Amino acid sequence: MKFTRTALLGVAAAAIAGSVAFAAGHANVEGAVKARQGHMQGYAFNLGVLGKMAKGEVDYDAEAAQRAADTLLALASINTQDYWAPGSAAGEAEGSRTLAAMWDNIPDAIAKSGDLQKAAMTMAESAGSIDGVRAAIGAVGGSCSACHKAYRQPN
Ligand code: HEC
Repeated sequence: MKFTRTALLGVAAAAIAGSVAFAAGHANVEGAVKARQGHMQGYAFNLGVLGKMAKGEVDYDAEAAQRAADTLLALASINTQDYWAPGSAAGEAEGSRTLAAMWDNIPDAIAKSGDLQKAAMTMAESAGSIDGVRAAIGAVGGSCSACHKAYRQPN
């Protein structure tokens, strides 16, 4: 096959344009993966504060419990839609553990986020006593696990 000079230039230009688009998309996807993982770490930290009190590993402290519950609720109320950028599934983006299935089941993923928000609301209303924390924590943890089971790649 013979390439003309113009055709070759055309190929090079397309390759450069493609790599620029890739670089921009790549940065965006990488940021999205980090943002959602950071968001999840925020959930884990605050749930951990409440979990340790519920188990009696740490003395119950009403103010600390309320702070953790309020923060959990605030986090669960954030719109994280842009953290789930297309092209950022496990296998597509470095470090990602989100199963591609999530993008095929967006209404379900949103419902699962809603379950967490409801559970976090109950926790925020109940954190004023250790019995309240203990009563509310199962639903919070359950809503985390339900989504992980469906959409997080196992370790
Ligand atoms: C709507 C679904 C959903 C809900 C609800 C959810 N998670 Fe996640 N979580 C995920 C997915 C998906 C990942 C994988 C993210 C990735 O690496 O792309 C994840 C990852 C994590 C990680 C690992 C973060 C990292 O640094 O890699 C932790 C910790 C975590 N979740 C904790 C929680 C806790 C605690 C809750 C509940 C308070 C929760 N998650 C609720 C879907 C969810």
